[in-house]
Amino acid sequence: MKKLVYVVLAAVILIMSGCGFFMGNNWAIKSPDGNIEVEFSLNKDNQPVYDVTYKGKQVIGDSKLGIEFIQGEPLAKNFKTIDVQRKNHNEKWEMQWGEQHYVVNNYNELKVEFCQENKIKRKVSVEFRVFNDGLGFRYLFPEQQNWDTAYIKDEHTEFKLTEDNNTWWIPGHWDSYEQLYSNTKFSKIDVSKFVQDKHDSISIPVNAVNTPVTMKTKDGVYLSFHEANLTNYSGMTLAVDKKNMKFVSNLVGGKYDYKVKRALPFNTPWRTIQIANRAGALIESKLIVNLNEPNKLGDVSWFKPTKYMGIWWEMHLGKSAWDLKSGKHGATTKNAKSFIDFASEHGIGALLVEGWNIGWETWSGFDFVTPYPDYDLEEVVEYGKRKGVDIIMHHETGANVLNYENHLDTAYALCEKLGIHTVKSGYVGKIVPEGEFHHGQYMVNHYRKVLETAAKHKVAVNAHEPIKATGIRRTYPNAIAREGLVGQEYNAWGRVCNPVDHLTIIPFTRMLAGPVDYTPGVFDIKFDKYKDKNQVNTTLAHQLALYVVIYSPVQMACDLVENYEGQSAFQFITDVAVNWDTTLVLDSEIGDFVTTVRKERDGDRWFLGAITDENSRTIKVDLDFLDDDKTYKANLYLDGENAHWDKNPLDIDITSKELTSGDTLKLYLAEGGGAAISFVPLNK
Ligand code: NOJ
Ligand code: CA
Repeated sequence: MKKLVYVVLAAVILIMSGCGFFMGNNWAIKSPDGNIEVEFSLNKDNQPVYDVTYKGKQVIGDSKLGIEFIQGEPLAKNFKTIDVQRKNHNEKWEMQWGEQHYVVNNYNELKVEFCQENKIKRKVSVEFRVFNDGLGFRYLFPEQQNWDTAYIKDEHTEFKLTEDNNTWWIPGHWDSYEQLYSNTKFSKIDVSKFVQDKHDSISIPVNAVNTPVTMKTKDGVYLSFHEANLTNYSGMTLAVDKKNMKFVSNLVGGKYDYKVKRALPFNTPWRTIQIANRAGALIESKLIVNLNEPNKLGDVSWFKPTKYMGIWWEMHLGKSAWDLKSGKHGATTKNAKSFIDFASEHGIGALLVEGWNIGWETWSGFDFVTPYPDYDLEEVVEYGKRKGVDIIMHHETGANVLNYENHLDTAYALCEKLGIHTVKSGYVGKIVPEGEFHHGQYMVNHYRKVLETAAKHKVAVNAHEPIKATGIRRTYPNAIAREGLVGQEYNAWGRVCNPVDHLTIIPFTRMLAGPVDYTPGVFDIKFDKYKDKNQVNTTLAHQLALYVVIYSPVQMACDLVENYEGQSAFQFITDVAVNWDTTLVLDSEIGDFVTTVRKERDGDRWFLGAITDENSRTIKVDLDFLDDDKTYKANLYLDGENAHWDKNPLDIDITSKELTSGDTLKLYLAEGGGAAISFVPLNK
């Protein structure tokens, strides 16, 4: 008995003193369908490494894990295993709104607990979840003796490639994702020409790419790297190590010499790798939302997915302005009412009004509650309510976060009082407080604080100049959409307009993160009346197709009322759904073309959107996705014979015919063109 007590005591002392028993150093874990396998082990330095195979072929080579702190030995070598746990999970959850109604969340999990064999004896666990569509892994720091706060200098998580993959990337700016995608081999990624500003007018070089970053291997395997559940941590960019052909995580910095400060216990966000053998499967994947916590807000049915118009494009065109002193103020009661009238007659549920509040002359002193004198906020809201059109509130913060946080409660209380359930926010400019960046821990926490405050007041948020989407919408379903890309607005400005293939890349890159507020629907493609050097580089049918190709629960019809009046093509925008039961991505290739079909939620209509790059092509669409027992009236909005994004963008053929799931369509997409189709069942 005495002996046993000693043994138990010795074990307790051993455990309390840090590293305990040795539990092996090599583990494997597979996806439920067996196609993806992760091998996780300790190497000769006892540093954790993983690799990934897909259908028996390695797609990620030996990649090290590690974290470096401001003080003490980095968490890299000398790991000792103290526990191993495995689990299988299979559930189905409901999206309150989304691109599909129910999501299957099925994965195998491996969690290995380590202790570092040194003086500090830090403990850390690494957790892998392997799904059929990819994997996520994260570091977990349990509560431990002698260590209560982690000051992370950087994270050194590696993603080693097995070949020089074809890659779609944007530079890893810390303040903005508004960059066009480049398509090069991994070895040709060149971020050297990009710099970002620090406050004291010093530029610092960009040395990484932002995520999602997407690739295709020689064998036609698609990989996309991103993160999920970015909470109280810095955004992750990926440094490009060409010599060793790997990405290495590089956290966004801020004011301090550490990049993340966290009290223990805490988890890092999930580092994610989507894996697919079809480009479209990347879009269909729900990996990113599945790696987030379930809904914390409960019922958010006060937010209804909607199409919206805006006193918005007219400012970007220069027809009107945000500020009153300009003499061409856009946000007037009269203008808002005329938009509401059109929206109400054409099935558009909401109106965004920018430039409604004082402060735009200097982009300062925004209080988010005081309207300009020519805008009667309450009257406009009332008028909209009578006509079934909700007002979307606008909060441009000018990136003065200190000012916004001071007004947060009153700003959102005003929305609640007026029954406004959506805010579009904006963060143009350098962050105040000085020294912080849009994508660092400070701002990640700010964007979250806004979501939490908004939720208290039953408001949903569509953030521009946001932190990237990482699936938080599952936990906070009031995180409805965000910008975070080169949007439609760039077409209206002096610089280069969006390239013809821009939107054939976005669905496979930026959109993998979450809903995109791109603001489609320009009908006056050339808008020479306002800017003769700018235009939209697509056909009209391509603009219509974007309502299906791009997913957002708030989908703008961005053009001016006068450009929509009398246009038969607008019928597609009136008809198209914004909340979906099912989404399927048919034959597609990144940067070339994409065809998406979606079935509406709570109804039987299907919609198709197809777009192409600068090359014309004819696509064959098998209609076997349609319900078998129905005959549909298909309304087709197709590029005309002579359509061309530059020479003849408005050439559109609008026809209808009866079709069933047994039919096949051949659709001609012109250069920069597209096709939009609604399928309306003729029988129940
Ligand atoms: C940039 C946003 O992306 C745009 O939509 C908005 O109109 C301006 N900021 C002004 O807030
Ligand atoms: Ca923007």
